[in-house]
Amino acid sequence: MISLYALLVFIAAAEARYIFAHYMVGIVASYTASEWFNDILLAKNMGIDAFALNIGPSFLFSPLHHLIRACIGKDYWNDQQLGLAYSMAAQLGFKLFISFDFSYWNNGDVGAIASYMQRYGTLPAQLKVSADGSGPGDRIFVSTFVGDGFSWRAVEAQAGLGLFACPFWQPNSLANNSNADCGFMWNAWPSTNNQPIYANKTTDDDAYYLQMLAGKPYMAPVSPWFFTHYAADTWNKNWLFYSDYLWQARWEQILELQPPFAQILTWNDFGEANYIGPLHPNKKDVYAGASTGAVRWVTKISHDAWRDIAKPYIAAYKAGESTPTVTKEEFVFYYRPYPKDAQCSDPVPRPTGWQFVADAVFVVALLKTPGTVIITSGANVPVSVEAQAGIHTYSAPMALGKQRFQLVRGNVSVIDVAGPLQISTACNTYNFNAFVGAGFPPKGSVQ
Ligand SMILES: *[C@@H]1O[C@H](CO)[C@@H](O)[C@H](O)[C@H]1NC(C)=O
Ligand SMILES: *[C@@H]1O[C@H](CO)[C@@H](O)[C@H](O)[C@H]1NC(C)=O
Ligand SMILES: *[C@@H]1O[C@H](CO)[C@@H](O)[C@H](O)[C@H]1NC(C)=O
Repeated sequence: MISLYALLVFIAAAEARYIFAHYMVGIVASYTASEWFNDILLAKNMGIDAFALNIGPSFLFSPLHHLIRACIGKDYWNDQQLGLAYSMAAQLGFKLFISFDFSYWNNGDVGAIASYMQRYGTLPAQLKVSADGSGPGDRIFVSTFVGDGFSWRAVEAQAGLGLFACPFWQPNSLANNSNADCGFMWNAWPSTNNQPIYANKTTDDDAYYLQMLAGKPYMAPVSPWFFTHYAADTWNKNWLFYSDYLWQARWEQILELQPPFAQILTWNDFGEANYIGPLHPNKKDVYAGASTGAVRWVTKISHDAWRDIAKPYIAAYKAGESTPTVTKEEFVFYYRPYPKDAQCSDPVPRPTGWQFVADAVFVVALLKTPGTVIITSGANVPVSVEAQAGIHTYSAPMALGKQRFQLVRGNVSVIDVAGPLQISTACNTYNFNAFVGAGFPPKGSVQ
């Protein structure tokens, strides 16, 4: 018979499930308190517990800041923006932690990182967990992008604070390393050596991390998409990971894996088109690179409705359930603005991996009961699928023009939505970002 103590331990362990979203502070130099408030409220309402605030080093001599940043890449706004974020999060009962981006920090930065821990780790909105990560506690949660082998215990000693370090390191670096209390994997997209491949994401990498962590807590990534399209003389980043079915399928994997922590990649990395947060059309600087950067592939390409898919999965994950419960019926559709072989007047070539994506349009149906999903892409003959209850992704071949998604039950139209963006071949950017929209039953209709 299972003892009460064992049962309580089991319940306590089962309760410790946290969802985070990766937040690029490096692009929000001019954010206001109300913009932080808005982002935090949206995240909290979908069940996210904390933002992982990605920062590079700051540079305090600000008068020449734009020039300095352009020359040496220092983020002069860290303190102002972290201050706003921690204060808005405290107001809203939301949590935050810092994710040090070791593309910019290095393993000698123990002192600077310790002072960040002292300044922000002690604020009310800081996420703190127990030493084993199984629930709330007194350890300051901290994460990274790379920085393998960095001495988090030295930071702890210098800051005089207890830390819970959950860095993204290679699995070999995490094995038997007392500087990591937990391990994070970045690889949310199907790839081999960071190269696009024609395959759906599997849980093989998760299994390898779990093996190397040998019982330490694991933080799993989950992401909807990945497309980046910088010219070779800016960042030399121009690729597309096959993401046609990724968002909903990866959430299914999260329910199967039930890791203690999962992190959405990302809230606002517009440059990589994996954002689920809102667009900021008046603030071109957040699109990383103004007129030559992500503004070219992000403008008017909302991903907002992707949050509606995550919400029921997050609720199921936190409840330890293996399937999500649909409480509100909805269609979330997505499609690229141009067919993959459209000829665009773009000096930057098509992204690596472009040929893997299907010229198709997709709809994730959130249904309480079965129904018929009808997809009409341009002049194509409508495609009908008998859809099951629950959350499932359906697709149909893409044609130019209008996109229409319908749900019919017993000859009654329940959802009938047209995509506000028409698919065309008139393009001056090889834009492989996905336009996302939603459709609902009319208000007051019986479902
Ligand atoms: C970690 O240490 C244990 C015990 O010494 C050892 O059995 C295991 O092989 C080590 N793991 C790795 C990946 O080095
Ligand atoms: C990915 O999964 C979807 C849905 O099961 C399937 O239709 C598609 O062919 C798969 N893609 C690849 C590359 O296997
Ligand atoms: C739906 O409409 C078709 C064609 O008008 C008809 O044959 C069929 O019986 C109807 N089904 C239901 C469930 O009303």
